Amino acid sequence: MKAKELKKKYIKFFKEKGHAIIESASLIPDNDPTVLFTTAGMHPLVPFLVGQPHPLGKRIVDAQRCIRTQDIDEVGDDIHTTFFEMLGNWSLGDYFKKEAIEWSYEFLTSKKWLGLDSKRISITCFKGDKDAPKDNEASEIWKSVGIPNERIAFLGKKDNWWGPAGETGPCGPDTEMFYWSPNNIPAPKKFNPEDKRWVEIWNDVFMQYNKTKEGKFEPLKQKNVDTGMGLERVAMVLQGKTDLFEIELFKPIINKIKTISGKDITKANKQSFRIITDHTKAATFILGDERGVPPSNLDQGYILRRYIRRSLRHLRLLGVDLLSMDTTVELAKVVIEIYKEDYPLLKQKKDFIFDELKKEEDKFQKTLDKGLKEFRKMVDKDSQITAKEAFLLYQSYGFPIEMIEELAKEKNVPIDTKGFNKEFQKHQELSRKGAEQRFKGGLSEASEITSKLHTATHILGEAIRSVLKNPDIKQKGSNITSERLRYDFNFDRKLTEEELKAIEDEVNNIIKQSIEIKKQEMPTEKAIKSGAQAEFGTKYPPKVWVYQIGNYTKDICMGPHASNTSELGKFKIIKEESSSAGIRRIKAILE
Ligand code: SER
Repeated sequence: MKAKELKKKYIKFFKEKGHAIIESASLIPDNDPTVLFTTAGMHPLVPFLVGQPHPLGKRIVDAQRCIRTQDIDEVGDDIHTTFFEMLGNWSLGDYFKKEAIEWSYEFLTSKKWLGLDSKRISITCFKGDKDAPKDNEASEIWKSVGIPNERIAFLGKKDNWWGPAGETGPCGPDTEMFYWSPNNIPAPKKFNPEDKRWVEIWNDVFMQYNKTKEGKFEPLKQKNVDTGMGLERVAMVLQGKTDLFEIELFKPIINKIKTISGKDITKANKQSFRIITDHTKAATFILGDERGVPPSNLDQGYILRRYIRRSLRHLRLLGVDLLSMDTTVELAKVVIEIYKEDYPLLKQKKDFIFDELKKEEDKFQKTLDKGLKEFRKMVDKDSQITAKEAFLLYQSYGFPIEMIEELAKEKNVPIDTKGFNKEFQKHQELSRKGAEQRFKGGLSEASEITSKLHTATHILGEAIRSVLKNPDIKQKGSNITSERLRYDFNFDRKLTEEELKAIEDEVNNIIKQSIEIKKQEMPTEKAIKSGAQAEFGTKYPPKVWVYQIGNYTKDICMGPHASNTSELGKFKIIKEESSSAGIRRIKAILE
């Protein structure tokens, strides 16, 4: 069974169980400032997991594209990638453990659905600790559907607990399903979670607690189910394979790398093949997202840059002459071909994707040459690479450390890797501190702040149209962290100081009027006809909410929002700049 059919079946199964279908949200989340990318299907649903009703009801099913950069070091083995699609079914305060587990089992094993061999399934459940009891409830349900005792293992928080990503927020025990992947070896009677041949394929999370600022786990008012099935991994076991990169979502990329490099896969170069495959796919999806960003030295843009540069380095390791063609562009073409039906936006944004990849290739090419020159000078000077020199190559020329080591090895000169790592950690620590600062507070607190920033974003959009006297100005992107809002809109010149001041004053004037924010549910078409503003490129579900701030604004939005403008405090623009051709960007805060 191909991944495409699996996706269809999953959606159909849960539709029959009363779930409403939603589209994959952007890879760049706006409802959850605790993560840079959507790492699981739950991030776009956070407002609904903490109590806001979803316009489509309490049962949701989706296929969400995800990026998990924390798994980057695992890429190279048979089953890890940083980009993947996650199939998920959701209970927003509706069904709980019994239905979730029984449906998981039915979908996996029923001949009508996946028809996987129940004798090759094993389960892990939460073993209990000071915060929450052992999840006997889950294991009993597994036994009742036919999983024997010796195929159920109990593990701690590290393995069988989900969330929260920040310090506070909804979380709970989970139960994971594993499948014995080798076809030619019978599954052992007793389950050993350490044996890597048991591949994790699905995770049912029971969100029943809220972690408080004091570190307590209080029962949630609304108990949710959040499940996540790895699309690629399940397709892999359905196809009787043990190597993820053999399935149709990867194979054409692998084949293209073979053609470009003229190399076959060997034990020594396998990791390079897999890294290039995963990273160019992730890069294509980041660029081709509705909130797509170009490579930069900040946040998502920096991750994107590293994806591209790391791919280029591994292409070089495979002996590819980077000057001979735009290799990442060639690979992105293959990625788009694989996904063009499920993600048509990739095709629509292909020029942007190719341009940015090409620019980044050229840029790295330049620093690469300069860096190589610098490297030769270092070697000529005293036949070694000191920690400081290695760090310079890393920081100023964008060389990954592995590349510096590789170069030193070629020249047969020693390199102070230990010293470099120290420098590197110092630097890492600084950036990690930065990251923690951004994420501090966690989800519950963050959601209060982001609600206000959301509301401010709506007012800002209207204030821009009003001050610039141009009703055709539209939102071209928005991003909210717990510190600031960022708003992109179409306009062809820099705004003057006076205009910025006038926009700021208008927003503050609306805030001061203490206007109540009204929410109304309606069919999407009707909402658009009624003149509600919609974000460019966003696919909305058939029913949406329209938020109205007096007679001032009317926007389609999934929220969350403040209930009265008076809650917002003082609005302040901190930056106005160009974001790309014809698009301006405003960053603002609430004081
Ligand atoms: N949030 C859980 C996971 O990502 C289930 O969707 O594994």
